[in-house]
Amino acid sequence: MEEWKYMEAIDAMTERRSVRSFSDRKIPEEVLARILKAGLHAASGGNLQPWSVIVERDPERSEKLGKLLKYPFVEKAPVNLLFLLDWHKLAVYSRCKKAPFAEHLSTNHFFIAWDDTVLSAQAMETAAWLSGIGSCFIGHIMDCSEELKQMYHLPALTFPALLLSMGYPKKMPPKPRKLTKEMMIFEGVYPDFTDEEIIAAYDRKYENREIAFSDTTSAGKSRIDLFRQSLLAVYREEEAEQILREALERGYLTEIQRLFGIHYHPGREIGGDLPERLRNQGLFPF
Ligand SMILES: Cc1cc2nc3c(=O)[nH]c(=O)nc-3n(C[C@H](O)[C@H](O)[C@H](O)COP(=O)(O)O)c2cc1C
Repeated sequence: MEEWKYMEAIDAMTERRSVRSFSDRKIPEEVLARILKAGLHAASGGNLQPWSVIVERDPERSEKLGKLLKYPFVEKAPVNLLFLLDWHKLAVYSRCKKAPFAEHLSTNHFFIAWDDTVLSAQAMETAAWLSGIGSCFIGHIMDCSEELKQMYHLPALTFPALLLSMGYPKKMPPKPRKLTKEMMIFEGVYPDFTDEEIIAAYDRKYENREIAFSDTTSAGKSRIDLFRQSLLAVYREEEAEQILREALERGYLTEIQRLFGIHYHPGREIGGDLPERLRNQGLFPF
């Protein structure tokens, strides 16, 4: 392959963004086959390839999947790829061949298997984008592992890691702001950033968003309650009330307050039954 073709692909990758609305155009078989093959050739720790992907193209099951995840675009996607961390196949093979397989009990290999699964998903996402196909990852599928286990007959030692919904874009969204390379890519050692440098960098990313915050509607009141609970999980009571008062006086939450106070609120993020569900699948080596 000539270099200019690689350069074109790299330029296309910097144009990448998540696409959450798909046209009715079908993905041709040969295009999908090429995308899937790109994932098969992803790097893999020890080349163990402890992952699988379920290709979902059935409109009825996609609808069920979208409703389960509460994502309408999943229902409409012509293809949904369900990526599984998967030790099942290697465990069976090792047992049959009398090899002492114990990778599913290794913390180290849990993370390497997760890396492998995500790398294959990323390879397919990139291949799709370079084929003119948009997609969006959904990490929230981890929360629905029990339902997905029933729906897709998932055996022990497998776990849903990511979903990739894909299709030809109906509407191309704007590219979201990203942090600059100075904040993300370091030459030599980790920089000794000042707080001001970090604040300025994240302000550039988030400063344009103000999220209305008032008690004039019942939705507004529940949002205030949720934000208060989130603050109380992290700050002392007086500090929490002070932050809440400031936001109400201003009439808006900043994007970072919305992100960690409402969207990924501590009540949702701390604890949870994910370890238990992993353990049910024979997969919690911690
Ligand atoms: C691991 C992972 C999980 C994600 N989960 C979700 C999700 O549950 N729902 C969703 O709408 N988007 C999800 N996304 C897409 C991100 O929201 C998106 O990548 C991010 O907003 C940056 O936008 P961009 O991809 O257009 O650059 C996920 C992306 C990744 C990498």
